[in-house]
Amino acid sequence: MAFLQILEFPDPRLRKIAAPVEVFDDKLEALVDDMLETMYEANGIGLAATQVNIHKRLLVIDLSEEKDNPQVFINPSFEVTEDELSEYDEGCLSVPGFYETVSRPKGIKVVAQDRQGEKFELEAEGILSTCIQHEIDHLDGKLYVDYLSALKRNRIRSKLEKEHKKSA
Ligand code: NI
Repeated sequence: MAFLQILEFPDPRLRKIAAPVEVFDDKLEALVDDMLETMYEANGIGLAATQVNIHKRLLVIDLSEEKDNPQVFINPSFEVTEDELSEYDEGCLSVPGFYETVSRPKGIKVVAQDRQGEKFELEAEGILSTCIQHEIDHLDGKLYVDYLSALKRNRIRSKLEKEHKKSA
């Protein structure tokens, strides 16, 4: 297994649209394992392939306290089942150090494939619903900062750009 490098906002590669996963093989299994390891190592609760510069429709989530409940979503899509919005302070491994409130539909039904390519459906509410929507956004080249005011987004961008210059 390997720790993968996580792209950080405003890296333009985070804006690429990911392509569907078509082949379910050992290489894909290894990528899923690497993404899980990377997410755990970075103390994240979700990671989309886009964030590690792999532009395939694949994401991993683990919301458990013990970090022992990995959830893998390949080629995920969702429909809203509850229009009511819920608000969470969202963070993102690609926007390190920032948390901002975002509203998203409270309930969704997700259709995806697991790591063997088996189709499954899942009804999600609350934080799981928010997390899945946040990660699917990544696959479409979107970031949670896109939901903020331009002022807030630009402030975050310039702070991160300064950090990146320092560490370059
Ligand atoms: Ni994120």
